[in-house]
Amino acid sequence: MYLNIMVNQSPIPVVVNGAAGKMGREVIKALSQTTDMNLVGAIDINPEHQGKDIGELSGLSRPLGVPITNQLEPLLLIASQEKQLGVMVDFTHPNIVYDNIRSAVAYGIRPVVGTTGLSLEQLQDLAEFTAKASTGCLVIPNFSIGMVLLQQAAVKASQHFDHVEIIELHHNEKADAPSGTAIKTAEMLADMGKSFNVPIVEEKENLIGSRGFEGREGIRIHSIRLPGLIAHQEVIFGAPGQLYTLRHDTSDRACYMPGLLLAIRKVIGLKSLVYGLEKIL
Ligand SMILES: NC(=O)c1ccc[n+]([C@@H]2O[C@H](COP(=O)([O-])OP(=O)(O)OC[C@H]3O[C@@H](n4cnc5c(N)ncnc54)[C@H](O)[C@@H]3O)[C@@H](O)[C@H]2O)c1
Repeated sequence: MYLNIMVNQSPIPVVVNGAAGKMGREVIKALSQTTDMNLVGAIDINPEHQGKDIGELSGLSRPLGVPITNQLEPLLLIASQEKQLGVMVDFTHPNIVYDNIRSAVAYGIRPVVGTTGLSLEQLQDLAEFTAKASTGCLVIPNFSIGMVLLQQAAVKASQHFDHVEIIELHHNEKADAPSGTAIKTAEMLADMGKSFNVPIVEEKENLIGSRGFEGREGIRIHSIRLPGLIAHQEVIFGAPGQLYTLRHDTSDRACYMPGLLLAIRKVIGLKSLVYGLEKIL
């Protein structure tokens, strides 16, 4: 049972976009265990699931009385008419997430976004858009607390190591590469104000891509996609005579739910876009 922190207030109306997906179904299960949130809509474009009860599809023992629809805007409108400020949770696809956020903000609905793949330009644009609308928005590339701890440990280690590479491993249904989390981790290290991986020999890639992607300050990211994986990341630091490896493994999508529910509660009080779970912990 998840902790409910709001007492004597109307529940937060929540619309889940991408509700029939792997993350969407997990979100539905988590919401059903809260008393301070109320699911008002489940959106998914998958034609197989239109009209089905989202509770039953998510494996709950009872129907929730919320049918899946592919119409986002009417549900944003309904959520916007509730007493408490509404939230849209988005776990859809990198191709559509930018438009979804703009639509939600246009209705005064606060987006909590787990979908990865937003470009830097899109994030900057959305930051301006949400600030102008004075509307909170949370973009969280990884909702697991363990990953935030890994990133903090990596930042600390980067003060002592000059060589680092990041490997991210995901299931092969993931559309974007590298993962939003790997990009975020690399950005945090690049912001430390030093260059990493200064080569000591002249490197030549005989097969293009074999050394991965080289980003800011020389930090490299490698992406692996295989069935059987869920979501995993390693940050490997090297120095003469030692390796320091930080690794986070996701074995069940339930690990994202405490962070997600926290984000839903926090986004109500924000006035513009905030990026990263560590900012609200
Ligand atoms: N932030 C995190 O902690 C975290 C964790 C896991 C996954 N993710 C990201 O979340 C996203 C979804 O992941 P998933 O594993 O649930 O994928 P999935 O493919 O299982 O689910 C996506 C769902 O979105 C639906 N969809 C696609 N386009 C849509 C649209 N235009 N409108 C409505 N629904 C639409 C699909 O039909 C599908 O049911 C990915 O970008 C993934 O990288 C983030």
